[in-house]
Amino acid sequence: MQKTWFRELSVYQIWPRSFCDGNGDGIGDLKGVLGKLDYIKSLGVDAIWFSPLYASPQKDYGYDISDYRAINPEYGTMEDFKAVLDGAHARGLKVVMDLVINHTSDQHEWFKKSAAGDPKYKDYYIWRPGKGKDGKRPPNNWQATFPGPAWQWNEERGEYYLHLFAVEQPDLNHDNPAVREEVKSIMRFWLDMGVDGFREDVITYISKREGLPNGFPTPVMCGQEHYSPGPNIHNYLLEYRQVLKDYDAFQLGEAPMMTPKNALKYIKEGEGQQLDMMFQFQHMSADCFVISYLPTGFSLRKLKKVFRRWQKKMYGVAWNTNYMENHDQPRVISRYGSEEMRTESGKAIATIYTFLSGTHFVYQGQEIGMLNYPFKDWNDIVDVASFCAKDLMEKTHLFSAKRIFRNCAYASRDNSRTPVQWSAEENAGFTTGTPWFHVNPNYKEINVAAEDGDPASLLNYYRKIIALRKQYKEAAVYGRYKEYAKCSGKLYVYEKIGDDGTRLFVAANMSRKTVSAAPVKRVIPKGAKRLAGTYDGSLAGRMRPYEAHVYLVEK
Ligand code: GLC
Ligand code: CA
Repeated sequence: MQKTWFRELSVYQIWPRSFCDGNGDGIGDLKGVLGKLDYIKSLGVDAIWFSPLYASPQKDYGYDISDYRAINPEYGTMEDFKAVLDGAHARGLKVVMDLVINHTSDQHEWFKKSAAGDPKYKDYYIWRPGKGKDGKRPPNNWQATFPGPAWQWNEERGEYYLHLFAVEQPDLNHDNPAVREEVKSIMRFWLDMGVDGFREDVITYISKREGLPNGFPTPVMCGQEHYSPGPNIHNYLLEYRQVLKDYDAFQLGEAPMMTPKNALKYIKEGEGQQLDMMFQFQHMSADCFVISYLPTGFSLRKLKKVFRRWQKKMYGVAWNTNYMENHDQPRVISRYGSEEMRTESGKAIATIYTFLSGTHFVYQGQEIGMLNYPFKDWNDIVDVASFCAKDLMEKTHLFSAKRIFRNCAYASRDNSRTPVQWSAEENAGFTTGTPWFHVNPNYKEINVAAEDGDPASLLNYYRKIIALRKQYKEAAVYGRYKEYAKCSGKLYVYEKIGDDGTRLFVAANMSRKTVSAAPVKRVIPKGAKRLAGTYDGSLAGRMRPYEAHVYLVEK
């Protein structure tokens, strides 16, 4: 098993718009980040991943980039970014940038020139004439990820362009070598500045099948078999991989619908490896039917099955990531835990995923147990994906309007995009101005200041277990996974065994019920040392709701 610095990281994700406002305009920014670097360091994490900071019309909140070499003026200047980069590095924190190259914004100058037919740029995007007598039918039946047709008519050019996400996010044509040169040059630009890695947005979508054939008719994401992945994906990724040769940096690819078997085609160690790790999504469906807009209630068995599969299939051959939240996922306590038992369930969730093998991620606000937002109606929602899901559900005529809203409120990405709750002061201390988005009304109880001073808080628990993951990294980060009580729908029990003989035992009651501790007691050796847990005190005969423990046996 290769041991490399980026495998050992705990990474803190910042979604800049809602992290911290430094200038009082209500929008999070780099000045705000600069002021919180010590806080981030205090968590014991080793890196920051920034969701896009680049110039963008913000139709998809930064994932629609209009200039890859400029900072969004709302967030500050390039000087501000350099100050954050230096400040992070001075504290021993690595910096990971989001690289969004499947698509740009329709306001990117490449797209404007492409639409105008400029010879240099005309093939930068995926243009096709319309079909039918009047030429007004889309070139094929593909549907976008944000549901709706994947094609948009452009009057100026008199053709359709492909967009796998929002209308304002035209897909780049990676089959064009000039586009690939642009990508490599953008990568070098940021690496030369000193960034330590990239999180590569929907990277498995960048190659599309020649001829763009019709997709198998499915209600969602029709056509995806032709681009997820496409025929040239591995070649293009290998080409981009070459750029990294000159730097000590890593690549993390976001990979929707990825299975362990297919993942190995990208991340298997050795010759031909294209990415260092991936964000897969399988463990994010433990409370829903395929997509989060169809909630079913949380199933621990589903979650365990996914963790087990990835732990086993990656062991010794490839590397994975572990996360429970990000800017696309609702808050995990509201999904897999209990809002009523926020601290307890938050600790249990933190415990079960922090000791799995893989690079570790924590999303802003997760460490204090922020919850989903109590949306009242559609006026409260801004996320483009939620509106697309609404349209789609309405078209099926399967759900009442009330039900559609309830599902969307549960699943909306807006849940994780409310401002970080720093204190009990006005606007949760996020801004002195008017916040761009709703502050969760629970901020008076749930905030960094309150939890910082409370030794029993979720925040201090995260600090503790992040430190333990590092201290016992042979077992926690690199160890072999062995699971017990696999069939239990309430208990999650596993062991991690390090090459140095260190053994860590993780046991959690992931339910609201008190259960017998017998299946756990059988597993944990006598004399094992308790390192951390939801409640004070060692394992007794029964496990309380969300009671979790970490035990150590040293060689
Ligand atoms: C990724 C991002 C998401 C974005 C989409 C399109 O899934 O994480 O926020 O909307 O790609 O760029
Ligand atoms: Ca601001």
